[in-house]
Amino acid sequence: MCHKLRNKFLTKWYGFKGKNIRFRFHLDIHRGQDISVGDDVFIDDYAEFYVVGGKLEIGNRVVIGKMNRIGCQNHIIIEDDVIMAPHVHITDRDHEFRDINTSILKQGMRFKGPTIIGRETWIGMFAQVMAGVKVGKHCVIGAGCIVTKDIPDYCVVVGNPAKIIRKYDEIKSEWVKVND
Ligand SMILES: CC(C)(COP(=O)(O)OP(=O)(O)OC[C@H]1O[C@@H](n2cnc3c(N)ncnc32)[C@H](O)[C@@H]1OP(=O)(O)O)[C@@H](O)C(=O)NCCC(=O)NCCS
Repeated sequence: MCHKLRNKFLTKWYGFKGKNIRFRFHLDIHRGQDISVGDDVFIDDYAEFYVVGGKLEIGNRVVIGKMNRIGCQNHIIIEDDVIMAPHVHITDRDHEFRDINTSILKQGMRFKGPTIIGRETWIGMFAQVMAGVKVGKHCVIGAGCIVTKDIPDYCVVVGNPAKIIRKYDEIKSEWVKVND
């Protein structure tokens, strides 16, 4: 089957509304009915959308990198023009663990609100965005970051836990270094 036909077929199969969605191979997409995908989205090899009871919203022109895992049980929003490098993980859930008399397996999940990736953000390789985190507009998430707290618009973050190292100064109209 030629690529265009296959893309059309898979778009319909998953029930996505977007136009010109391009799919690579070996995808693992659960519960397409709880996933919305916009126009011109690219979904690379081995991407996994593990959506179990939540809602995953992917905007227009988003790049879902190779081996990305999006684990959604509450609400994840990936806004327009987000780029995700290979091996990125985004989640909106944790296992509840606080009752020491019950196994973690039996305690169910806990949620901290939606996880949001703001428009035009670029997420580097092997980065992870944790439950309930809101990443602002046009941010850079460095390779290997673990993002545990909200990030304002126009910031570069690196490390585990991710810290802001650079941000856009609107008065100077340039990116400036941020020191701890
Ligand atoms: C974050 C990044 C964009 C660089 O941003 P930058 O603003 O130019 O940062 P700099 O290179 O000036 O580095 C600033 C500091 O952050 C550190 N740093 C940069 N990237 C880092 C990372 N990913 N993890 C930890 N520290 C990092 C640098 O060592 C430097 O530290 P210092 O001030 O102690 O010397 C880049 O390093 C990165 O991680 N890119 C992702 C690459 C990738 O995943 N590509 C896949 C293609 S889609």
